[in-house]
Amino acid sequence: MAKNVMNAIQYEKYGGGPGGLKHVEVGVPSPKKKEVLVKVEAVSINPVDWKIQKGVMRPLFVPGNFPHTPCTDVAGEVVQIGPQVNDFKVGDKVLSKLSTRYGGGLAEFAVASESLTASRPTEVSAAEAAALPIAGLTARDALAQIAGVKLDGTGEPKNVLVTAASGGVGHYAVQLAKLGNNHVTATCGARNIEFVKGLGADEVLDYRTPEGAALKSPSGRKYDAVINCTTGIPWSTLDANLTEKAVVVDLTPNPSSFLTAALKKVTFSKKRLVPFFVDVKREGLDNLLQLLKDGKLKSVIDSRFPLSKAEDAWAKSIDGHATGKIIVEP
Ligand SMILES: NC(=O)c1ccc[n+]([C@@H]2O[C@H](COP(=O)([O-])OP(=O)(O)OC[C@H]3O[C@@H](n4cnc5c(N)ncnc54)[C@H](OP(=O)(O)O)[C@@H]3O)[C@@H](O)[C@H]2O)c1
Repeated sequence: MAKNVMNAIQYEKYGGGPGGLKHVEVGVPSPKKKEVLVKVEAVSINPVDWKIQKGVMRPLFVPGNFPHTPCTDVAGEVVQIGPQVNDFKVGDKVLSKLSTRYGGGLAEFAVASESLTASRPTEVSAAEAAALPIAGLTARDALAQIAGVKLDGTGEPKNVLVTAASGGVGHYAVQLAKLGNNHVTATCGARNIEFVKGLGADEVLDYRTPEGAALKSPSGRKYDAVINCTTGIPWSTLDANLTEKAVVVDLTPNPSSFLTAALKKVTFSKKRLVPFFVDVKREGLDNLLQLLKDGKLKSVIDSRFPLSKAEDAWAKSIDGHATGKIIVEP
């Protein structure tokens, strides 16, 4: 590998938003024993990336050090392998989930662990792949593992509510729930109603209307499962719309949701609220890449930015109005 120095985006301390991001030249990292060095073709931004900059994971010692190169969801080409790497060779097109603690994605090159790297089929573009890891696997695992929603058409179809269905997680959740023939009610802003219907949602509510705020299914359904991709919905609003044994998966839990979740448990309530944090595994990356390859799932790209404009991508994500995923292409 000829290049020793690369362009990267880093921040040196907590806070600062887009203005805290610095364009730097740093050494190209070297892969350790079981790591690959990836030439990054696309990296996606997730809300957790800028929440880490805000310090929300400080109690967990994330980021692991400063300066920190943020972002974890990268697609690109393997340009170097560590001495104990068996599954990949130089030239392979891959998708990797980098370490949450050390990041490294907003750069021309990134080191990824072999175990969190998956082969990317030629039919899947770097941007479509990079969109997947956190958003796609959160949607998949919240539905299947936590809410017990079948994604393969087996079992009883459920009534599923997906809130913020136009966002990164929500747009995958709608498509995956529909792959399993479930009935999907979705919430989003007025401008995205047709988009979310196009993803397969059976009924769509504008969250700024009274019916949308009340989460009322237009066909009068109660929900067996809720994938809550937004914040600020009181439990009482959810509760009024749930079947007896419903599961609400909260992707952005706050102290009050942990309290409600605990209360549901100690009172033996059949309705459950489950705070959930995704744990990305290679098997999940392989599964979603296969669905993209087969044309059963799509990654919708909100916008693409070059590395030189990474702060604009960062600001767009913080703004909270993306339709699909925000991508940076170093
Ligand atoms: N726990 C985990 O493991 C995990 C993993 C991934 C994400 N998350 C969390 O899940 C949340 C969603 O993530 P994301 O990547 O999907 O975010 P995102 O892509 O930034 O979501 C943006 C979308 O949300 C819509 N929206 C905002 N407020 C809404 C509301 N009240 N009702 C309906 N739609 C609304 C926006 O529509 P408009 O433009 O029309 O407002 C926009 O299309 C974030 O809080 C994120 O941190 C958690």
